[in-house]
Amino acid sequence: SKTCSHLRIPFLPPFSEGCFPWSKQRSESYCSSVFMFVDFVWCFCKKKKKFIPTVLTQITGGAGFVGSHLTDKLMMDGHEVTVVDNFFTGRKRNVEHWIGHENFELINHDVVEPLYIEVDQIYHLASPASPPNYMYNPIKTLKTNTIGTLNMLGLAKRVGARLLLASTSEVYGDPEVHPQNEDYWGHVNPIGPRACYDEGKRVAETMCYAYMKQEGVEVRVARIFNTFGPRMHMNDGRVVSNFILQALQGEPLTVYGPGTQTRAFQYVSDLVNGLVALMNSNVSSPVNLGNPEEHTILEFAQLIKKLVGSGSEIQFLSEAQDDPQKRKPDIRKAKLLLGWEPVVPLEEGLNKAIHYFRKELEYQANNQYIPKPKPARMKKGRTRHN
Ligand SMILES: NC(=O)c1ccc[n+]([C@@H]2O[C@H](COP(=O)([O-])OP(=O)(O)OC[C@H]3O[C@@H](n4cnc5c(N)ncnc54)[C@H](O)[C@@H]3O)[C@@H](O)[C@H]2O)c1
Repeated sequence: SKTCSHLRIPFLPPFSEGCFPWSKQRSESYCSSVFMFVDFVWCFCKKKKKFIPTVLTQITGGAGFVGSHLTDKLMMDGHEVTVVDNFFTGRKRNVEHWIGHENFELINHDVVEPLYIEVDQIYHLASPASPPNYMYNPIKTLKTNTIGTLNMLGLAKRVGARLLLASTSEVYGDPEVHPQNEDYWGHVNPIGPRACYDEGKRVAETMCYAYMKQEGVEVRVARIFNTFGPRMHMNDGRVVSNFILQALQGEPLTVYGPGTQTRAFQYVSDLVNGLVALMNSNVSSPVNLGNPEEHTILEFAQLIKKLVGSGSEIQFLSEAQDDPQKRKPDIRKAKLLLGWEPVVPLEEGLNKAIHYFRKELEYQANNQYIPKPKPARMKKGRTRHN
């Protein structure tokens, strides 16, 4: 960032640690230009290497699957990271290795409530992402993606931060064009079981561009395609984790429909690199981030069976409602404007995920409690987490 995050003075870095012995703590007063100048001279004379601007970064949903890998990357890059999470699907375990680090903070907060902190960049990932999780409480999913996004955009406006929205390929719905490029407007059933998530993300995108046009907020929108890797929740319910867990436990691999529907999966480290490249770019229009290597669901089932070395059979079940038949990102824009493309081969990524799930099963076997999502509880018109 080229802005002092406290006073918004251009081209003066925020002295997160401070070179001055007396400037360890951030305070409004020390962030005056005079202090900054003296601090600079102090650093210069003492030839200290601390004159590096620190980016104050907030990751909502940072204790989740993608968010925790993004936390790792940004912490390693020297950011001061604040993870904001209500632990609906995220876990402290995913980021516990950073707890106690001076650049790391973990806040238990629901983005549906406003938040007032100082930040330069906001990665807004908070939202359940897998169908069982977002269908568990559709009203809460809608609130998180609408009110939650409004709150984060309000924060970005107040402190002059740049916000990256973790949007989704689900904004394309069950697509009529293939592969899907960013100009396609989508084919979404607004009242179907997936609508709380799909439409929630579509509105979230609309909000981003309204804030950009009306209030001058800098926004970045990543349309994320299916992603997999370590730290996916055991009960994630998406195809890769389902197949791996079923294969590891010798259970039948359940394929919904004939298995001819296609998906393209990217490994999580590729996605994280894409998110960071997008945040630091000047591309404000939506960008697809995904791996265009397309396979049928049946091919995935067979490959995972082979990699696990499992004798599980493949079981065909009736098709899920509104399940997209084809999904493949057109990533020409990301390649051209961000210089980004996925690099992790599918089998390599799958082997890492299989290793992770094997360990998780051992962890579970040691009597650790792993919560299972419950069906939506309809009681007098109210569900949990509203
Ligand atoms: N993983 C994918 O394949 C994929 C694909 C497309 C888009 N995305 C998007 O990426 C983001 C991260 O997905 P993920 O796979 O890591 O999911 P995840 O469920 O593992 O992580 C989501 C995180 O958000 C937190 N959260 C949910 N509601 C919240 C609220 N109201 N306040 C604060 N925190 C809240 C959860 O506790 C969790 O830590 C999501 O926005 C998702 O829509 C993911």
